[in-house]
Amino acid sequence: MIDLSGRVALVTGSSRGIGRACAFRLAQAGADIVINYVTSLAAADELAGEIQRLGRRVFVVKADVSERDDVESMMAFIDEQAGRLDILVSNAATGGFRPLLAATERNFSTTMKTNVLALIHLVQAGVRLLERSPGRAKVVAISSHGSHMAIPMYGIVGGSKAALESFSRHLALELGERGINVNVVKAGLVETDSTSRIPYADQLFASRKLRSMTGDRFLTAEDVADAVLFLSSPLSDMVQGETLTIDGGAAVHA
Ligand SMILES: NC(=O)c1ccc[n+]([C@@H]2O[C@H](COP(=O)([O-])OP(=O)(O)OC[C@H]3O[C@@H](n4cnc5c(N)ncnc54)[C@H](OP(=O)(O)O)[C@@H]3O)[C@@H](O)[C@H]2O)c1
Repeated sequence: MIDLSGRVALVTGSSRGIGRACAFRLAQAGADIVINYVTSLAAADELAGEIQRLGRRVFVVKADVSERDDVESMMAFIDEQAGRLDILVSNAATGGFRPLLAATERNFSTTMKTNVLALIHLVQAGVRLLERSPGRAKVVAISSHGSHMAIPMYGIVGGSKAALESFSRHLALELGERGINVNVVKAGLVETDSTSRIPYADQLFASRKLRSMTGDRFLTAEDVADAVLFLSSPLSDMVQGETLTIDGGAAVHA
């Protein structure tokens, strides 16, 4: 059984979707939780109530992870209020659905700042807290199939996820000796607010049905959260610099 009692976990973008499921799952396993949001205060507060009812400490922090100052303030708050940080799940992401040929410089820079640079800000600002963690601290970044596949209108986000995976491996190299594991969960398609905005969502979900190799069982945010839980726990102490795909087999189905 995974027991994260006494540990403190920050999940970025945990007001909704996959981040929310990760925060709740880590709380169920015993961790105290820092919920991060940028616009959805009501949703963040609602999750905080659910986590409190599990008997965990919970902190709600508004911070735009693409802004270095916000990330530094969030880490200072965690140090002051929670006194430690053992698990960092870098989940928040953005990026609209458009062809690369129609992308503007602003589209690129917003997406790269939120999806890639945020991980570097978070680790740089949080490393002193993470390395104080007893046992190995865990950093888990959330990626998608766009990192290695060509998906219509997903070029900017896909490119950002490829960079995110590479940065995670290089961070593992730099942080491994300092008691920190850095891994990636590469999730398949999950129904969330972001996927409901995909212009061809019906087609994508239909192809997920054809490609999944798990019968009538389709990927949920909770399945992704279970993979994150594993990589946040001592069971994965010897998993380092890896990308774990969780998609019901869709990516390897010809
Ligand atoms: N859904 C999928 O099929 C899928 C598949 C593979 C990978 N992923 C990855 O999983 C992660 C979560 O995706 P999702 O589908 O759950 O997204 P979502 O439902 O759109 O939720 C996005 C979350 O990120 C937060 N956020 C966005 N920009 C932020 C910023 N600059 N600073 C702080 N928080 C920010 C949002 O906060 P507010 O609520 O406050 O706006 C929200 O909590 C992303 O990394 C995504 O690429 C998703």
